[in-house]
Order: sequence, then C-alpha cells, then structure tokens
Amino acid sequence: MDIPIRIAAIDFQVPETVITNDDLTKIIDTSDEWIRTRTGIERRHVLSGNESAVQMGILAAKKVLKKSKIDAEKLDYIIAPASVETHAYPSTACEIQAAIGAVNAACFDITAACSGLIYAMGIGRALIKSGMAKNILLVATDAVSRCLDWTDRASCVLFGDGSGAMMLTVADDGQDDILAVDLRAEGQYGDFIKMPIPGKNCPLVEPNEQENMFVKMEGKEVYKYVVTKLPVYVEECVAKSGLKMNEIDYLVPHQANMRIIEALEKRLEFNPDHVISNIQEYANTSAASIPIALTEAIQSGKIKLPATAILTGFGAGMTVGTTVVRLREGIA
Ligand SMILES: CC(C)(COP(=O)(O)OP(=O)(O)OC[C@H]1O[C@@H](n2cnc3c(N)ncnc32)[C@H](O)[C@@H]1OP(=O)(O)O)[C@@H](O)C(=O)NCCC(=O)NCCS
Repeated sequence: MDIPIRIAAIDFQVPETVITNDDLTKIIDTSDEWIRTRTGIERRHVLSGNESAVQMGILAAKKVLKKSKIDAEKLDYIIAPASVETHAYPSTACEIQAAIGAVNAACFDITAACSGLIYAMGIGRALIKSGMAKNILLVATDAVSRCLDWTDRASCVLFGDGSGAMMLTVADDGQDDILAVDLRAEGQYGDFIKMPIPGKNCPLVEPNEQENMFVKMEGKEVYKYVVTKLPVYVEECVAKSGLKMNEIDYLVPHQANMRIIEALEKRLEFNPDHVISNIQEYANTSAASIPIALTEAIQSGKIKLPATAILTGFGAGMTVGTTVVRLREGIA
C-alpha cells in the first residue's frame, strides 16, 4: 500500500547579526558593486559570539513543531542536513532531540552540503512510505561563516548562516505532497568545493599534511557544472512527477548565485515572477537556503497556496537534489 506524505510545516531561523557588502570592504579588497553584479548578494546574516548552528536549528524546529501540532514525543526520526558545526559528534540531530524532548526519535546527520534538505526529504519520504516512520523532522542548519577563509574574497563573500526546518508526516487525507524526488552525486567533481577537517596522524607514524578547515572553491567550475547539469536533472525530476513543467506554479532553487538562478529560469522557460529568490538578504546558507526562501515567499504572499513547486539544490560532492511538491495552505 502506498503511504501518502504530507509536508505539515516549514520554517526558518537566521542570526540577528547582518554583514553588508560594504562591511566586507573593511577586511578584503572587494566592492558592493562587484558582489551585487556577480552574485546578487547584498547582505548575509552571521553567527556572533557563542551562537551556534544547533541553537538556530532548535528554534526552527520548535516553530515547525508548533505549526504542525505534532508533539515532540511523536517524532520517529530527526534528520539534520548539517555539514558545518563546531564538532563532528554528538550529531546536530541528537542535540536538537535533547533540546526539544523528542525522546522516541532516532537521530542522525547527513552530509550532502547545499543539497542536504532535498536529500533529507528523499530519505524521509522513503522511511514513511516503507512504514518505518510516521513523523519526521528535518532540520537543515549550518554555520558556514565559521569555516570561511575571511581573507579569500572569491569565497567568503558568498555565504551566510541559517537554519530551515520541515515536518513530514503521513497524509490522512490521501494527498501525496512529494510527487517526485531525484537525487544525484558526481564524486568525480569533489574538488570543486572542499572543506577539510583538522587532524593529524599518530605521532608514532609518518606525519601527514593536513589542510586548514576552510571552504575552498573552484567558483568558475561550480558555475559551469551547475548551469549545464541542473536544468537537465530538474527536467528529469519533473518528468517523474507526472506533471508538465508549465503545470508547476513555482521554482524554488538553492540560493547560491543570482546568475545561476536566472540561467536556470531561462533554460526551463519558467515565468520569472514565479521564481523565488532572497539571495540578496541571506547569501548562500547551504542546506537551509531552500527552506528559508520557501518559507519567506509563502509568508510574504509571493507564493500563493495551495500550489505546486520545484525545489532544487546543488552543492559540494558534487550533489544535486530536486523534488516536485504540493504545498498546502497553512504550512508556513
Ligand atoms: C564565485 C563567482 C561569483 C566568481 O564570479 P566570476 O565571474 O567567475 O569571477 P572570476 O572568478 O572570474 O573572477 C573575476 C575577477 O574578480 C576577482 N574577484 C573574485 N572575488 C572577488 C570579490 N569578492 N571582489 C572583487 N573581486 C573579486 C578575481 O580575483 C578576478 O580578478 P582577475 O580577473 O584580476 O583575476 C562565480 O564563479 C560563482 O558564483 N560560482 C558559483 C559558486 C557557487 O555557487 N558556489 C556554491 C555552490 S553550493
């Protein structure tokens, strides 16, 4: 028996501290004009002091618990697409579990970088459809600003911090909200975006060479990869959904670069008024960027519900994840 899935709630949390492009000119040789024209970014929100990705994730998680009216004890899984924290374990998902009291949930993180939320939706969908779970909380949360080389102008201007949460549950009314999921990975392009973790060999063996924990990116290569491959993968996912491109109301892409979003929009011949972007405010918040963009667009009325939408992300790996969804009224 096919078990239909309801996207019950979605929300986000970002840090209060904002850094503008002009602020960045104090620490690197750049300009507001360069950043705006090459990327569309005007500001980014970043963690300050002892604020953390987990704290943001907890706040986003509490919002979707409240909206979905699902008790924390009823959660079967918490899946956290979280690539950047202060420590490798305990997992971000376990820390969120403790804070919200989800005592019955199994918890784990996944590393699919900026495609993480879509990967988590794919896993969550499979768990519910197989009967292994009824309620799953997804929390994408990253502190990218802590892992940037703030002297490397080619990468540090592109990112911000944020968290996005989504609740998946069984749809009692039979309507399936996740119509198709398409997950890809092409590890041969792994060098395009890398973030080494510090560590060194046992002193009794030959020493190793360990790089610093900073994001390193071949920006041009990422750009070429994405504009070539993403439209093809999106079209394949739409074909799997049973809908036609012109039957889908909104396109909500990962917010990495405005030029990438516009290239995708043109190639898919999507109505520009129905392509969602808030990159100017938040920059690239990794796996949180899609839930932040989606929630904000619903809350501001730019997305009118009910609606269908394509959510599509790409990131280090290289990974690409796309899903075609139905969005019900009241989810944000
Ligand atoms: C990073 C990116 C904005 C760079 O744009 P670009 O047009 O390719 O720019 P280039 O790398 O060719 O750099 C052009 C010039 O600007 C300079 N430059 C780079 N960053 C700069 C900055 N922040 N401010 C001013 N100048 C900068 C470069 O040094 C270069 O100067 P040069 O010609 O004297 O060598 C673009 O490649 C990109 O967005 N790629 C995708 C990245 C991405 O999406 N990553 C996340 C994936 S999840």
